[in-house]
This record gives sequence, structure tokens and C-alpha cells, in this order.
Amino acid sequence: MRDRVGGAAAPIIAAAGVGKCFGALTVLDGVDFSVARGEAVGIVGPNGAGKTTLFNVLSGAFPPSAGSVSYDGRDVTALGAAQRCRLGVARSHQVPRPFGGMTVFENLHVAATVGGALRGRAAHRACLDSLELCGMLQLANRRADTLGLLDRKRLEMARALATEPQLLLLDEIGGGLSDGEAVELVGIIRQILSRGLTVVWIEHMVHVLLQVVLRLVCMESGRIIADGDPKRVMHDAAVIEAYLGSVSS
Ligand SMILES: Nc1ncnc2c1ncn2[C@@H]1O[C@H](COP(=O)(O)OP(=O)(O)O)[C@@H](O)[C@H]1O
Ligand SMILES: [Mg+2]
Repeated sequence: MRDRVGGAAAPIIAAAGVGKCFGALTVLDGVDFSVARGEAVGIVGPNGAGKTTLFNVLSGAFPPSAGSVSYDGRDVTALGAAQRCRLGVARSHQVPRPFGGMTVFENLHVAATVGGALRGRAAHRACLDSLELCGMLQLANRRADTLGLLDRKRLEMARALATEPQLLLLDEIGGGLSDGEAVELVGIIRQILSRGLTVVWIEHMVHVLLQVVLRLVCMESGRIIADGDPKRVMHDAAVIEAYLGSVSS
């Protein structure tokens, strides 16, 4: 089943010395980040810190300018997002990108078949399973462009799950949720973890994040400035300064 090395879970994904530049702008700068199989990791950091860009590099949306990414022990730096998705890497987008003219179910079916390379009954099962898990069964036949923002965010997560990933990268799916909705989201993510998936979750709602993750990473200006026990990270002087700096700037 799961690869174990010396009793500890082997990394499912690892970024080594990853850099990303857009022209003269350095957005990621020497990022070393690795996640063990089955782990739940939270990522926080001020806007513009490079969190989404890290997901783009991990998922293969674009290549890093420096460094490498390995998945399941294999160097995948040269592989694009479609290839990595078939290997088990799925992500949700911070700004939802559904196919607006398609129903919720059709959106999931595209994800399962094109993204996850599932066929026939297996694809249908993955869609239904994902809809059920995300509490979207009653919305299956709704056109995606009629959904409100919260349901579009939920659809982002459901689409990622429909590819039957091993690694789920969630980019700010919780913003704007009521307390009740946040509790529901935490329940869904706990279920995902109980299935053995690995979850990396970028979220500003730290109190929600901390109900799920045992490890927290804080990014600032393209670097990881703290990584470890969530309480320790939240009390780290550099982390506090990063947030206060972003408030006052
Ligand atoms: N495709 C892109 N082209 C140019 N600049 C980008 C691109 N993507 C992100 N950036 C810039 O990179 C920086 C980090 O962005 P991002 O990774 O989205 O940060 P975060 O998710 O932490 O808010 C920002 O300054 C943003 O404007
Ligand atoms: Mg972002």
C-alpha cells in the first residue's frame, strides 16, 4: 500500500531549491518544501508571498525557474499539469474556474476523465463519490455558472477530488465561510485525510486551518520563514512581523 521508509512516511512531494521569476520579479526564492504521505499541512502568509505560485510549480501549471520538484520519488520537474494530475496531483484554484455552461456533474466528469484518466463506471463512481463527500449531490444538475461563490469553491474541491488524487492542493477554499460552513468544510477535509490522501491547504482562516493540520508553513516574499508545529509557527517573531508588516504597508 503506502511506501514507508524506516517507519516514517516517505515524501509524496518535494520541492528542492525552487525559484520562480516573472521577468525581473522573483516570486519564489530557494524554496525547500516536502510533504510526507498522509500528512496535512497548512500554508499561510501575506498576500503576494508566493503561496499560489508554489502550488503552480508543485502542480506543474508552470515550470520553476530554478530547482526541482519530485513526486513519489520521481523527478517531475519537466512534467506538465495534465501529466502530474494523472500521477495523482490535484489542486483547486483560488479563483474558481468551472466550465460555466456545463452542469456540476459534467464539470466533475471532465475532471475525472480528462484530468484523472478514469473511464466508464469508474469515472461515474469518482464523480458521485466526490459530489457526496463535498455535499453537492443536490447540485449535480445545476449549471456551474448559476452557483454562488461558496458553491463554486466547493466545486473546485469536488473537481480536484473527482480525479482520484493522492495529493490534494487546496488554495483558499474557506474564505468567506460562515462558522457553520467552516465546520462542514473541516469535516470534509478530515474525511479526505481519513482516506489516506495527503492535503496541503493554503488558507487565511487560520483558526479553521488549525482544526485540520498538524504542521504549518508560513511564507513571505517567496521564502518559507517558518515550518513546524502550528502554535510555534504562529508565535514565531518573523511570522508576526510578516503579518504586521503587511497590515501597515
Ligand atoms: N503569472 C504571473 N505573472 C506575473 N506575476 C505573477 C504571476 N503569478 C503571480 N505573480 C506575482 O507573484 C507574486 C506572488 O503571487 P502569488 O503566488 O499569487 O501570492 P499569494 O498566493 O501568496 O498571494 C505577486 O506579486 C504576484 O503579482
Ligand atoms: Mg494566492
